[in-house]
Amino acid sequence: MRFQRNILITGGAGFIGSHLVRLFVNKYPEYQIINLDKLTYAGNLSNLKDVENKPNYNFVKVDICDFETIQKVFADYQINSVIHLAAESHVDRSIKDPFAFAKTNVMGTLNLLETARQAWQNTENQNLFYHVSTDEVYGSLEFDNTLFTEETKYDPHSPYSASKASSDHFVRAYHDTYGLPIVISNCSNNYGSFQFPEKLIPLFINNILKNKPLPVYGKGENVRDWLFVEDHTRAIDLIFHKGKIGDTYNIGGFNEWKNIDLIKVMIKTVDKLLGRQEGESEKLITYVTDRAGHDLRYAIDSSKLKNELGWEPSLQFEEGIEKTVRWYLENQEWLDNITSGDYRKYYQEMYG
Ligand code: NAD
Ligand code: TYD
Repeated sequence: MRFQRNILITGGAGFIGSHLVRLFVNKYPEYQIINLDKLTYAGNLSNLKDVENKPNYNFVKVDICDFETIQKVFADYQINSVIHLAAESHVDRSIKDPFAFAKTNVMGTLNLLETARQAWQNTENQNLFYHVSTDEVYGSLEFDNTLFTEETKYDPHSPYSASKASSDHFVRAYHDTYGLPIVISNCSNNYGSFQFPEKLIPLFINNILKNKPLPVYGKGENVRDWLFVEDHTRAIDLIFHKGKIGDTYNIGGFNEWKNIDLIKVMIKTVDKLLGRQEGESEKLITYVTDRAGHDLRYAIDSSKLKNELGWEPSLQFEEGIEKTVRWYLENQEWLDNITSGDYRKYYQEMYG
């Protein structure tokens, strides 16, 4: 069968990538989706059990740092669009091992850009290199009413955000220098199902469930702007199809929460669903040493995306967090497979 587009989605076995792959495979049977992922600790193919046998889905276990194999994948599948999500994504890990972040997030992105440039230089196809980035490249805001806009100057503070900022610059450089058709989106913190339980929300849900301490960094006063993951993937779908080449779009829910307030909402929701007394699990809150270089506040102005492409978040936060908590409670096996390391057995026989 000839597909209308052959879309390479990198990092498709991760949290946001698996939601994006599911959306595209189901919504666009006319597109062939090639999920390219190295399957690091954060990649989990069991996230995609429901689409793995669909005729328009393919998986390749490849490291984006492996230039030659990336070139082969482009040739084998006649790739004409890329949605690039593969990355090392956890700030705490970046503080411990910044080199891994430079390697994958910067060099890996450069490999993909160069491969796309070479593969597409003489084609008249409708090509697009979509780079998925983060609001963390803009740095940190004070406790005031300011928001990150697409014009905010880059000011990254963690090795993670520095590596993502660098990759964004390379993507723009490939557009400005070689005319590569690119688009970038910078999104705020995501939450939802299938998120690796090292990030705040799934880690804390898991710990509340297991009556384990909840390590709150510093005083818990840092602010993050939370967006339901499926609202993010809807935005990517819209930008992929209707975004202006060369442009950047901020994605966020206008939904700021101080960490400690968010943690109390999670505790209340889990306690209610488990039939515990309301607020019983607040005793698990444990204040620990602050993260080094901890950004104070993130808040995204996504009005460009709303005004130009008509996107708005679909879920109120209270609804989204309850839906998310329910999912983790109903999928404790998924969580346990990760905490025990068993999730890697799912694909080890097939892919090594
Ligand atoms: P994740 O850590 O859950 O998943 C990352 C995926 O990339 C994993 O499947 C992993 O195996 C794969 N990967 C890592 N290194 C690789 C390599 N060298 N080659 C091939 N595959 C590799 O991350 P996520 O939270 O789903 O984030 C996805 C993207 O979205 C990232 O680029 C991140 O910067 C961006 N982002 C995330 C958030 C968020 O809140 N999670 C917000 C805004 C932007
Ligand atoms: P995280 O989910 O790691 O996302 P990011 O650092 O990319 O925003 O953390 C969200 C917030 O929660 C951040 O301010 C750090 C804080 N945090 C804790 O207080 N304790 C934890 O154990 C974790 C993982 C995060």
